[in-house]
Amino acid sequence: MTGPVLVGMSVADVDRRDELVRGAADLGGTVAFLQMADPALAAELTRLADAGARAITLVGVSLGPLAPAHSWLRRIAAHWWRERAGERPEIRVATRLADRVDAVVDVLTETRALTGTEPGLTSAAWEEVSAHRHQVLVCRGPRCTAKGSVDSLRAMVLALMEHRLGDDDVLLVHTGCQFPCNQAPVVSVQPDDVWYGRVDPPTAAAIVADHLVAGRPVEGHRLARRASMATGAEVR
Ligand code: FES
Repeated sequence: MTGPVLVGMSVADVDRRDELVRGAADLGGTVAFLQMADPALAAELTRLADAGARAITLVGVSLGPLAPAHSWLRRIAAHWWRERAGERPEIRVATRLADRVDAVVDVLTETRALTGTEPGLTSAAWEEVSAHRHQVLVCRGPRCTAKGSVDSLRAMVLALMEHRLGDDDVLLVHTGCQFPCNQAPVVSVQPDDVWYGRVDPPTAAAIVADHLVAGRPVEGHRLARRASMATGAEVR
């Protein structure tokens, strides 16, 4: 039996990778990430299964306010299990998320087996593009990350929650470098084609309240944008 896999649920956990790695090592386990970092959960499950693990326990860790619903952990693990060819280990998933690394042991006292066939482990929503009005692209490239884009992202998530805007209103996406690195942290709002620079947490909150809710871009942080005149391929 291998130690547990601590699964970082969001980019906030990616930023605290060292803490996760230390916590996993204390329990004889390893670390994986649901998104935005390696090893991805599916890759870690494959590595452990190929190494002969017969039973794997997963515990989702959410050290910030950015995590998707806990059900994503089960969904992604179940998808891997269904797709896995050959011998498949038993997978158990802790029934709740750990909000601190030192809470993992307590959270692990209650786990549930995953078979990959339970109802509800996939979603019709995965088939469709969401109905969002705006897509907000938050740069997590190297310069923007060094300039604190994760704090801006956190402020934006909290402001979206405060204004009760969900994925069907605003789809928040993390990106690699968006190019104007000297303006870091950079955020762009589509389809409005509005770009912002030096987006600190108060500015992120203002973008939500003024632009996404009230429809008025935050002029003080807006970046000039010169669109190419070249005719692109027609989008059908
Ligand atoms: S790293 Fe964000 S724009 Fe380049």
